[in-house]
Amino acid sequence: MNTVENIKDLREQVKTWRMQGLTIAFVPTMGNLHDGHLALVKAAHRHADKVIVSIFVNPMQFGLSEDIDNYPKTLAQDKESLLKVNTDLLFTPTADIIYPKGFGENSYVEVPNISNLHCGASRPGHFRGVATVVCKLFNLVQPDVACFGSKDYQQLQVIQTMVEDLSMPVEIIPVEIIREQSGLAMSSRNGYLTPKELAIAPTLYKTLLWLSDELRASHQARDYAVLVMQASEKLDKAGLKTDYINLCHAQTLAPASPNDKDIVILAAAYLGKARLIDNLPVKLS
Ligand code: PAF
Repeated sequence: MNTVENIKDLREQVKTWRMQGLTIAFVPTMGNLHDGHLALVKAAHRHADKVIVSIFVNPMQFGLSEDIDNYPKTLAQDKESLLKVNTDLLFTPTADIIYPKGFGENSYVEVPNISNLHCGASRPGHFRGVATVVCKLFNLVQPDVACFGSKDYQQLQVIQTMVEDLSMPVEIIPVEIIREQSGLAMSSRNGYLTPKELAIAPTLYKTLLWLSDELRASHQARDYAVLVMQASEKLDKAGLKTDYINLCHAQTLAPASPNDKDIVILAAAYLGKARLIDNLPVKLS
């Protein structure tokens, strides 16, 4: 696996593969890779001849109160993991390469409406940072397809909307959430949890399953606000601190109405130093 840090080397490799008629799949990451990321690389191999992974901890998507400096950096270990899943090229730019003028001076991509809901409400500017860096990485890598994990459900919708709105020539492939045996969705942020918190964390997914069962039982007759309140109480009782639990239309992410059949439960909760997110799509008949 070749690793490149600068744009010139990346473009040269991409050009060579293009001249050979090869297709390219892209997996953008912030490193500290776990099995969820490796599932993205495996999915990428099913869609193209060559797979490029990027590792870049994007300062533009972190809020002022969010500690980017302590975001886990495990490059040597990440390289070993990426080798095992046959990654063809790793791109590891620095912030100076991605934002030579500083990210405050950089042009940006804003996906309206959807970016301000849910996680966007708790993390102002976060999705602007995500959309901007993903757009920039797409322009650098010029992939045919790009794989994103479904754990970040809202991120996936933001990126899908950006690609459609701006006619970007890339197909977005959503990849299923990979969970620990306990049900906890894999995330780099799980590394912040103490053993005691790790025992509590699966309550988030269990609560989503409970909510989904309740909705399916008789969704027409249920008061969504009451269900959400009960779910939130379950989280808080277990020792998590609910940020939000929202029942949403699966594509627009607007609040679900009782007539919506295709919905998704989105949730975020604080636990120790971590902010955990999870989601569960629910099809109602
Ligand atoms: O999901 C992530 O790890 C990041 O938000 C992404 C898509 C790599 C952009 O920095």
